[in-house]
Amino acid sequence: MSDAALDVVEFLLTTSVYSDDRTLDENDLPPSFRRVFWSGGVDDGDGDGGQTHAGISRPLSATNSTAREATGVGQPWDAVSELMFTDRDEFSGTISLVQQELAEQWFAERVDDDRLLENPTLAKHFTTHEEFGDSFDVTHEEAREQNRPIQADRVWIDGLLEEYFDEDDDEEMLDLVEVRAPEEVDMSLDDLVLTDDQENELDKISKAIEHRDYLANIGLREIGKLLFVGPPGTGKTSTAQALAQDMDLPFVEVKLSMITSQYLGETAKNVDKTFEVAKRLSPCILFIDEFDFVAKTRRSDEHAALKRAVNTLLKSIDNISLIEDDVLLIGATNHPDQLDDAAWRRFDEIINFPKPDRGMRADILGVITRTMDIEEFDPQLIAEVTQGLTGSDLRMVLREAVLEALTEDRTTLTQEDLLDAVEEFEERDTLKNMDMMGGDHDALVAGGDLGSDGGHSHDHGHDHDHDHSH
Ligand SMILES: Nc1ncnc2c1ncn2[C@@H]1O[C@H](COP(=O)(O)OP(=O)(O)OP(=O)(O)O)[C@@H](O)[C@H]1O
Ligand SMILES: [Mg+2]
Repeated sequence: MSDAALDVVEFLLTTSVYSDDRTLDENDLPPSFRRVFWSGGVDDGDGDGGQTHAGISRPLSATNSTAREATGVGQPWDAVSELMFTDRDEFSGTISLVQQELAEQWFAERVDDDRLLENPTLAKHFTTHEEFGDSFDVTHEEAREQNRPIQADRVWIDGLLEEYFDEDDDEEMLDLVEVRAPEEVDMSLDDLVLTDDQENELDKISKAIEHRDYLANIGLREIGKLLFVGPPGTGKTSTAQALAQDMDLPFVEVKLSMITSQYLGETAKNVDKTFEVAKRLSPCILFIDEFDFVAKTRRSDEHAALKRAVNTLLKSIDNISLIEDDVLLIGATNHPDQLDDAAWRRFDEIINFPKPDRGMRADILGVITRTMDIEEFDPQLIAEVTQGLTGSDLRMVLREAVLEALTEDRTTLTQEDLLDAVEEFEERDTLKNMDMMGGDHDALVAGGDLGSDGGHSHDHGHDHDHDHSH
């Protein structure tokens, strides 16, 4: 019997059990199932202007299309039509279990503990079932604990945002705050090369999150506010995101630079709301990027409304807690020197994101090139000639090498390609750091270092690489 049949029968059983057992709630459904049945709060259409509550309403109906969406099986009915306990109503398209006991027996024979653990509805049903109860070593509680909470689902997040931010504010809010469901974060800790110090700190915080009840009991509340400090491109944002993915938490990102005088009237209120949203989404990660913005506005003689917004922000930070609200706060800045004591004091751990050393650069290159084809690849050597480059720079170097090779219709790179790309990158960097008004810099003159084929920076015996572009 194919897996498709098992998937579809699981879906049919789940909809049936869930519809009957009213003690079950949204968090008893696997995320892929509840996504199908979620409906936002919409006009209920009975003419009194009333709204249905956002949520999942019973009974759950199983049709070809809901089953397809929930299980990913292309032709759900075809997958189970041979089974003697299934039936389909041609008119409504509803697929049903005509003999639920047979279906349960069939399912119980094919499913193991691990799979049952992923479906709290069925975990409860089967482990408390008089016939099958003893064949599984799983509890309803365990399954619920493993199941991602509905607060991490996109549909739930959207409903919440809608509730908090009415359409008029929408535009500015979308600029100021972005919420991502953990499944939408495509950064994982495996893709990041961290220093020992960073790893220790992240371990510490994971443990603190795991044991927050204990910490609350012993009165340790000053915990769970981290500041990531380091130059651009050293992995601060990526690490915060990877943490969200690793812990399966929604990622709420606040971009402070979006607090501009343009929207000031509403900003203090929106900052407030953002923190409220984070509390409602909890457990979650609240990431505040460009934290130095706070310092800038406090110091200068900025608009009073801007100062008010920033003060609201600082107060909100004081009032949010990992222990009480299940919100992990992470700030990030490129300019720690600009933070005043008041801002600095609010974080209980400062995590340094330095530029990577040689060993780390080699490791980062290893990660970036994991799925690439590179002849004579020697990451140690590339690491050697890329001193001062960040993880982000190295990514750019690799991208350049890949694109260059593509211009020659090659998808296999060589070490040489990488070395060329490093050189190219350094030229870009020179350009970037150059004072364009600064008189007679060589590179500002066509035919100087940057423009010519004969410049010393190209003189490494592979000038042919540049032939095609001239
Ligand atoms: N230590 C690292 N290991 C692997 N990849 C890295 C590392 N540091 C940076 N990168 C890569 O560089 C890119 C940029 O990193 P990221 O955006 O996290 O930097 P940042 O520190 O937040 O920079 P900024 O201060 O400009 O916001 C990402 O694609 C990331 O994967
Ligand atoms: Mg960043």
